[in-house]
Amino acid sequence: MLRTILLGPPGAGKGTQAVRIVEKYNIPHISTGDIFRENIKNGTELGKRAKAYMDKGELVPDDLVIEIATTRLLEDDCKDGFLLDGFPRTVYQAEKLDEFLKAHDSKLDIVIDLEVGEEELMRRITGRRVCKNCGATYHVVNFPPAVEGKCDKCGGELIQRDDDNEETAKNRISVYKDQTEPLIGYYEKSGNIVHVDGSISPENTFDQIVKAVD
Ligand code: AP5
Ligand code: MG
Repeated sequence: MLRTILLGPPGAGKGTQAVRIVEKYNIPHISTGDIFRENIKNGTELGKRAKAYMDKGELVPDDLVIEIATTRLLEDDCKDGFLLDGFPRTVYQAEKLDEFLKAHDSKLDIVIDLEVGEEELMRRITGRRVCKNCGATYHVVNFPPAVEGKCDKCGGELIQRDDDNEETAKNRISVYKDQTEPLIGYYEKSGNIVHVDGSISPENTFDQIVKAVD
């Protein structure tokens, strides 16, 4: 059982660590960004609404995100824990999450804050490539695929996310500082946050996370 949040700026490695964490602790990975991208791909009304904000690097309005995240948390597979990636992202979202968990006799076990410097974030974001088919993540310099443009796992086409250009990435980082960073103080008050160095190798970061969690 592990109920946790992965906090950290855009490009910090939340998705990269999430894959490892959910495998080890056998919990579902809930990424609000992934849910929005899936909806955009399927052309849903929700996807259309979210895309307008995401393409500018702005946050999708709180009420919409809270509804989506809490609906997902009500699903059966979240009974024995979950990993939230990219939610909450504002103090208001965090308060609503707390209310939701309290109403369901639940609470967070730990909040994991991934720390990475700004220059490295920009390098990671602009160099990221994702598989159009299975969603696997690569990096043109750090983790290139065996064959350029092709997913090692499924052979799918590797593409760049629409919000991974330099201009939008800069705005995402600035939005993070204004609206999401205050969450660190919010969770420090409740005392269950750990700060983990996200600038080292994914394996070493994962080791630190496991130590903190266990
Ligand atoms: P979201 O999809 O959550 O994006 P993000 O927070 O900007 O984070 P990223 O997915 O860009 O980065 P990551 O930390 O997952 O890094 P990754 O592991 O891929 O949100 C997108 C948008 O959706 C938001 O801008 C907003 O509009 C909307 N949204 C989502 N949730 C919302 C909410 N709650 N409220 C309002 N709006 C919301 O790694 C990045 C790259 O670095 C990869 O190429 C990877 O291979 C590489 N890398 C990873 N780790 C390492 C390492 N240790 N060393 C070297 N390279 C590494
Ligand atoms: Mg991500």
